[in-house]
Amino acid sequence: MNQFEIKRLVDKAYDKAELNKEEITSLLAADINQLDYLLQKADQKRKEICEDEVHLRAIIEFSNYCRRNCYYCGLRKDNQHLQRYQLKKEEIIKTAQMAAELGYQTVVLQSGEDEYPTAQITEIIKEIKNTTGMAITLSLGERDFAAYKLWREAGADRYLLKHETADQRLYEKYHPGMSFENRIESLKYLKKIGYQIGSGVIIDLPGQTPEILAEDLLLSQKLELDMIGSGPFIPHEKTPLAESKTGTVEMTLKFTALSRLLLPLAHIPATTALGTIDVEGRQKALMAGANVVMPNVTDSQYREKYQIYPGKICINEEAGDCRQCIGGIIASLGRFVSQNKGHSLRK
Ligand code: 5AD
Ligand code: SF4
Ligand code: FES
Repeated sequence: MNQFEIKRLVDKAYDKAELNKEEITSLLAADINQLDYLLQKADQKRKEICEDEVHLRAIIEFSNYCRRNCYYCGLRKDNQHLQRYQLKKEEIIKTAQMAAELGYQTVVLQSGEDEYPTAQITEIIKEIKNTTGMAITLSLGERDFAAYKLWREAGADRYLLKHETADQRLYEKYHPGMSFENRIESLKYLKKIGYQIGSGVIIDLPGQTPEILAEDLLLSQKLELDMIGSGPFIPHEKTPLAESKTGTVEMTLKFTALSRLLLPLAHIPATTALGTIDVEGRQKALMAGANVVMPNVTDSQYREKYQIYPGKICINEEAGDCRQCIGGIIASLGRFVSQNKGHSLRK
């Protein structure tokens, strides 16, 4: 593609938030050295929509038990080399309260697909709401629809459930025993009952093509996602994809920039996975459309046991260290940490 054609497509995306599958594919397939204009217009759109405000979401990784066997993930059930842990209700609540004291306005309760009792999650949500007032995001994988409803009524604000890939064949290949349809139906149901929904993809999964990533963006538009994230695939030794190639910073940035142009009102995180393959990864994403960072507040004794991929950053840090580090990164880019909860920009 020549520069003239790139400019035409980027301008169209910028003006109309709309491109067809072929157009998105050709931008994703272009060399990053030709795409300065794409990244620049995504940054401009981010500034129009979000100004220089960056939202922080504090993540508590409260259990690494998982009943699933996703091909790429180190927490998969068949990984016997991992010591499993599960925080008690009181520990989770205390961690959330500590996050609130550090100034966080959103807490993300994240785990593998553990069978943590529904009623206990409900109590945790209520207690965190009552004592901190923080916004609460759940990131617990697929549960039954009745549980989603109970937790929403208990005060959970958002649900993060990545669709990982929009290609049904690839999805079902890498997620044994899971159905793509149920994934999408879950997201639709969560939205219907009032959650702000976040989803996202793994970039450069083996077998993934620019066409498939274009489908990911079109699907994300259709789902009216309130948040869309993307992180590079990082092979984990104890998984079936151990020998596959690591995803690229370039593709992740192209996807991030197109996310901002095609879903202008979405929150877009600069992901930890991108920060893992490139020390400047999160900064680069924040300059290519992203407006969110999700620092870890998990007690440091558990961090090394939540390595969904190897080399994950912040393993030896404490919650306060990460808060400071992120504050520094954001300030160094001339941006500032938001003072509000950072609810969906769609309403
Ligand atoms: N590389 C990158 N991202 C991964 N995830 C899981 N395993 C990997 C990996 N090897 C992401 C998935 C999942 C979340 C737990 O982390 O997107 O939703
Ligand atoms: Fe479990 Fe999530 Fe990892 Fe899949 S990606 S194995 S559901 S923790
Ligand atoms: Fe954890 Fe930088 S965010 S050390």
